[in-house]
Amino acid sequence: MVRICIVGTGYVGLVTGACFAEVGHHVVCVDNDLKKVELLKAGGIPIYEPGLEELVKKNVDAGRLHFTNDIAEGVTKSEVIFIAVPTPPRADGSVDMSFVERVAREISGAMTEYKIVVDKSTVPVKTGEKVAETIRRYNKHKVEVDVVSNPEFLREGCAVQDLMQPDRVIIGASGERPVAKMKEIYAPFHAPVIVTDINSAELIKHGCNSFLALKISYANAIAAICEASGANIEDVAHGMGLDKRIGRAFLNAGLGYGGSCFPKDLSAFIHIAEQLGYDFRMLKEVQRINADQIQRFLKKIHDAVWIVKDKTIAVLGLAFKPNTDDMRLAPSLDIIRPLQKEGARIRAYDPKAMEKAKEFLSDVEYCDSAYAAASGADALVLCTEWDEFRKLDLEKLRSVMAQPIVIDGRNVFDSKRMAELGFVYKSVGR
Ligand code: UDX
Repeated sequence: MVRICIVGTGYVGLVTGACFAEVGHHVVCVDNDLKKVELLKAGGIPIYEPGLEELVKKNVDAGRLHFTNDIAEGVTKSEVIFIAVPTPPRADGSVDMSFVERVAREISGAMTEYKIVVDKSTVPVKTGEKVAETIRRYNKHKVEVDVVSNPEFLREGCAVQDLMQPDRVIIGASGERPVAKMKEIYAPFHAPVIVTDINSAELIKHGCNSFLALKISYANAIAAICEASGANIEDVAHGMGLDKRIGRAFLNAGLGYGGSCFPKDLSAFIHIAEQLGYDFRMLKEVQRINADQIQRFLKKIHDAVWIVKDKTIAVLGLAFKPNTDDMRLAPSLDIIRPLQKEGARIRAYDPKAMEKAKEFLSDVEYCDSAYAAASGADALVLCTEWDEFRKLDLEKLRSVMAQPIVIDGRNVFDSKRMAELGFVYKSVGR
């Protein structure tokens, strides 16, 4: 059992804390948002993440998971302190590191003995050096500290599973002492552990996310060629994906990537590379293809509907991807807003994200079901591939719509069947 403090109870911090507690460690989660801490103490969860609520409750009841807004308490009670606070983008694409820096100072101020401080947030390469420097500078007692980079690879929507069964654990550290303690923390997860220097660990995270975004943009570029040539992206992706060197994952063409990670991490990586003297043009192209994907989709809607002014458009799926209520940089926003600007009425349904969507969108009529949203609609646009949309009764769907027009941004429906049912059906790369 290791005594652990996690600073920041966002997606990464909360899931990490709960999973560490689940395998037997003693965890204190710290957040400066008092309301959030109160909610967590009362057994509530500020986000929708499958399995998380049960995990938090179980470990709070077992006395292994605690919440506080007092960072000094967390630091004093722990051997290892994880930093899991946001690293949001600034207007120029660089990363705002002020939260990490402030937390490093706060940890430093509370340290009276040796600690290991671990950076879990996604950060620019060389951040570990800065964090170590900051902690040493602000510590009055001049105690020893080891800084470790341990990037997180969890995906929203299956974060608990990703954390409990990781593909690998990256430990970026110098010295035996922090490596041994990190291995002790991760021993119960039975995953391959890779030990590197701190800079390499930090680069692995940006390298991974950029590569995955590149894969998506690559699939979307091929989808454009499929559309122009009459080929089918599903077959192409399947055929490519069976090559073990490529793999099928992240070759799904659609509306492109969104969310709180890929867009931000790509901009950050491009910016960091630039500062280090490398012009990462390849990643700029990945961004351009991703932005184009939205424009190409809007054109499909216009081609199918012609004039959207005064039309009722049903939107199925708002979250940036299925199994989450996260609306940050959701492609649905970039579809809905221009349609509204042109005078369309939007009726929307999402299984989990409608509450959060209200913070991002105005003048949307939220509906209780996909059928309710489709009722009387002149066209239906699918933005997120929730499983329940795959199971829709398509005949019923058609019967409630004013016009049987479906523009599918995630290739959820079968083109042949949609045609048989009399839909005007457009999807991506098919
Ligand atoms: C991502 C990384 O996967 C994770 O390792 C990292 O820690 C955080 O960033 P996340 O943002 O939760 O996780 O979502 P992910 O499942 O990776 O999807 C990202 C975006 O890519 C979504 O908008 C999704 O719709 C899109 N996507 C994904 C595609 O468009 N096509 C695909 O084939 C796969």
